[in-house]
Amino acid sequence: MTQPVNEPFVWEKYRQGRSVEAVGVVIRSLNKSFGDNLVLRDLNLEVTPGETLVILGKSGTGKSVLLRHIIGLMKPDSGAVTVGEIDVEDQEFRKKHTLAIVFQSAALFNSLSVGDNVALYLREHRIYGEEEIRDVVRETLTVVGLEGKEDVMPSELSGGMKKRVAIARALAMSPELILYDEPTGELDPMMTHTIGDEILKLRKRFVVTQIVVTHDVYLAFYVADRIAVLDEGSIIEIGAPEKLRRSTNSITRDFLRSL
Ligand SMILES: Nc1ncnc2c1ncn2[C@@H]1O[C@H](COP(=O)(O)OP(=O)(O)OP(=O)(O)O)[C@@H](O)[C@H]1O
Ligand SMILES: [Mg+2]
Repeated sequence: MTQPVNEPFVWEKYRQGRSVEAVGVVIRSLNKSFGDNLVLRDLNLEVTPGETLVILGKSGTGKSVLLRHIIGLMKPDSGAVTVGEIDVEDQEFRKKHTLAIVFQSAALFNSLSVGDNVALYLREHRIYGEEEIRDVVRETLTVVGLEGKEDVMPSELSGGMKKRVAIARALAMSPELILYDEPTGELDPMMTHTIGDEILKLRKRFVVTQIVVTHDVYLAFYVADRIAVLDEGSIIEIGAPEKLRRSTNSITRDFLRSL
């Protein structure tokens, strides 16, 4: 059964009283080294509330390190990240904002069913009762095209389906910001397209800011409102896809060659 378009998504109803606004992200002069490996150097970036921003960079340029700073999992040597105007290192941050991350590996719990994977955060945080959790799980799985797969185990899923479960799990948290780390890594071009469609769908349907880090130039141009090119630890260029297509920067041109 498909959710009627004009019917509020179940967690939008339950989210009453909590923030329903997408948040912006401001990164100021971020520096991070591991020993003598300077990974992020004086990185500045602003993400507008509600946009889907893609950070495009070659392998090893620091995309995952940057994402870890945005969710406060890694501490910068200097500089700061604010999400919704609160420093991510501030104690208050977790109480005020909900961020979700779709990890590079999907990171599902193999001993839990698809439904239990999606419900995990909601149960841990006792956000809803069991009946409501069932509704949220059903609806989020429907959004990603996996309706009725609650009882399937992760080992029975393809790589692309696992990524979609990871997206459903992120969505179930009713986050203001979703971060994706290489969402199409190891997927074939058809599945890349499907995951791209999920990201576009979320952008259209929900009040959410999305940051996607990838080296997949096709995905970048497919989903982005804006693309930021990361190279040698800094953002070297940022703009709408049509602007980047006309770029004269040699790194950006290298990416465009593979389109
Ligand atoms: N915990 C860590 N300790 C030491 N060095 C690290 C750590 N995490 C990352 N690095 C280094 O930081 C650099 C950037 O790594 P990162 O994982 O962010 O790259 P990436 O752009 O995500 O690459 P990929 O596209 O392959 O996922 C690499 O040189 C890596 O070795
Ligand atoms: Mg990475």
